[in-house]
Amino acid sequence: MTELSARLRPDPARSHGIPIAVLAEITHRCPLQCPYCSNPVELERASAELSTEEWLRVLGEIADLGVLQLHFSGGEPLARRDLETLVARAAALDLYTNLITSAVTLTEARLDALAQAGLDHVQISVQSVEDALATRIGGLRGALERKRAAAAWVRARDLPLTLNAVMHRQNLHELPEMIEMALDLGAARLEVANVQYYGWALRNRAALMPTPDQIDTASKVVDAARARLHGRLVIDYVEPDYYAARPKPCMGGWGRQVFNISPSGKVLPCHAAESIAGLRFDSVRDHPLAWIWDHSEAMNRYRGTAWMPEPCRSCAHKHDDWGGCRCQASALLSDAGATDPACAFSPRHAEVFEAALAFSEGSDRYTYRDFSGGTPEPGG
Ligand code: FES
Repeated sequence: MTELSARLRPDPARSHGIPIAVLAEITHRCPLQCPYCSNPVELERASAELSTEEWLRVLGEIADLGVLQLHFSGGEPLARRDLETLVARAAALDLYTNLITSAVTLTEARLDALAQAGLDHVQISVQSVEDALATRIGGLRGALERKRAAAAWVRARDLPLTLNAVMHRQNLHELPEMIEMALDLGAARLEVANVQYYGWALRNRAALMPTPDQIDTASKVVDAARARLHGRLVIDYVEPDYYAARPKPCMGGWGRQVFNISPSGKVLPCHAAESIAGLRFDSVRDHPLAWIWDHSEAMNRYRGTAWMPEPCRSCAHKHDDWGGCRCQASALLSDAGATDPACAFSPRHAEVFEAALAFSEGSDRYTYRDFSGGTPEPGG
């Protein structure tokens, strides 16, 4: 540990803990155009990204902070040519490294280099079990075959694999096949990730929102699969917020366990925090990371329970859900400090359910990000 980092080491007596994990969004560049993308509507440009040298310094600060897990994410982290260098540095710092990838640009040679660098785990996103639907959702022809090949390479190198299946109205009927695909590909874990409506995804709510019947069926499918596959496949499943009665403890609580670093070095309490108007984010370019974790305005704004309004403040569940999701309160109520409307105790809860019902009857037409002059709806 350097003298500076020793000095910056967090005081164990402070009110919040040491973060467990960091999501390093090393780039917003991405070969896919998924309509459910939760990254901001305005993506950060490649020219603004932290340099290799900056990331190497920041990785040291992350380790000094006491973080255990580092998730390389994006965008598509493989878009950065220095990914192997960053993984090697993180591994040397004893950080557990996870690559969160679409895998469509992965090659065997690149995977060998990443494994050599010390990569611990790979998580591959999947859009559909069927080629045409995968192409329609991700906007890239042949993506599913590339993902299948990449998953096989990962398992051939004995790296643990998680499949991240992003589910919504237009692919939830595939859930049983998705579970079978996870088994076929040798995944140890399947995340059945219902779309969350932040960033770009908010624009596609009408095309993505599931129906209540779909959610009922999905819960039964997951329960049955968990019982049948116990010991073979771990299935993570969280009910979608708009149909839930209890809010999720988003990020395990604001500024409690996890934070994000954006491609240009902004430290965010969650991946969607920039959607909250008026929050100011500090950058690793301007401050040591330990200072930001302890003192930044954004990290402290909804930390703990003192900020909570009623009925959260006197709620028996406040140390379980930590007030739910601030970005959702902001997106739905234009007030990030309001009770998460996913909670049945919110005075606005019924409105959210009604909105979900209305969106679930919307058009299937997607609005894609305009990366290169626009991508027309295939077949549209
Ligand atoms: Fe920001 Fe939930 S995504 S607090």
